[in-house]
Amino acid sequence: MVGTNTPRKFQIKIAVLPGDGIGTEIVAEAIKVLKVLDLSFEMETALVGGAAYEAHGHPLPPATLELAKAADAILFGAVGDWKYDSLDRPLRPEQAILGLRKNLSLFANFRPAICYEQLVNASSLKPELVSGLDILIIRELTGDIYFGQPRGRRVATDGHFPGTQEAFDTMRYSKPEIERIAHVTFQAARKRNKKVTSVDKSNVLETFQFWKDVVTEVHAQYPDVALDHMYVDNAAMQLVKEPKKFDVIVTGNMFGDILSDEASMLTGSIGMLPSASLNAKNQGLYEPSHGSAPDIAGKNIANPLATILSAAMMLRFSLNQTAAADRIESAVSAVLSQGLRTADIYSQGTQKVSTQQMGDAVVAAITKTSKG
Ligand code: IPM
Ligand code: MG
Repeated sequence: MVGTNTPRKFQIKIAVLPGDGIGTEIVAEAIKVLKVLDLSFEMETALVGGAAYEAHGHPLPPATLELAKAADAILFGAVGDWKYDSLDRPLRPEQAILGLRKNLSLFANFRPAICYEQLVNASSLKPELVSGLDILIIRELTGDIYFGQPRGRRVATDGHFPGTQEAFDTMRYSKPEIERIAHVTFQAARKRNKKVTSVDKSNVLETFQFWKDVVTEVHAQYPDVALDHMYVDNAAMQLVKEPKKFDVIVTGNMFGDILSDEASMLTGSIGMLPSASLNAKNQGLYEPSHGSAPDIAGKNIANPLATILSAAMMLRFSLNQTAAADRIESAVSAVLSQGLRTADIYSQGTQKVSTQQMGDAVVAAITKTSKG
């Protein structure tokens, strides 16, 4: 707005999109945590996913998209439910998150996989393999087979589907798309251990030979960062064999989807993994890496920590509130040290708590630190 007569707005705007399933429960806990921080921002909630489909006949209604576009940051829960499985592809709840990513050009998806020391025993891997684990998966989020041209039973290019004999989705990447994610990755690696593994399938796919070539070309501008390349099947294996040898992983949309779910289990539970999806303006959508888990929805048992940690990422990346982000992250660590666990990370000798109790405990830990 600079340069116009419109008064400059200083109020930070957060669009809150809880979505479906456990989405509403976990987002409610993250909001509780944000509210206790004494920061001033406006929050506005809108329907998205299956909830929006029920109310407005579309998973990403125009009003929701406009709210998201106008916001500095978006706090997102999760979308999806098996009951929508028979809907045509464009109306499925998942289209809401894909539409937001595409419309806002949220091309850089950061999925850190950090194993909290207190949860070393919750991992399905041996403690020595995951203790101290801190890797960052950077997933390209607006290209690849996810956004190539589809055809099949539910999406027809010629307007009708009867007797479908084949289906396809097209894998594609343009040079600028690979370049920008490569730059983001090398810059992120500079703030860590300066080590990047680019994951591809260049032995089979043209798209990923191209990916490898372009990443290598961009790398020339970052001689201080080490780069190696790994095939995705090998990366999937190495992640469970010796996960700590990775630092930053960069990969395409599809492989990143799979590898980030895999990496989440190293940390004990997918319920612990936050994520940030950023565009070139650092506007971001923040969501847990997990889904809507309809099987446990409404039971007050889901783990809200991934969403609470996503709110911390939002403060750090989009809202420039590093101290507040640190406070949330320390509070999460403190509640884990107190032995509080939701069902997904529970082990003998710890205390099982509900979704709301976990949120309350994080709030209490933050309030305690602010009182010194
Ligand atoms: C994720 C999810 C989404 C994806 C779904 C819900 C469309 O699995 O964010 O990882 O595939 O990207
Ligand atoms: Mg996924």
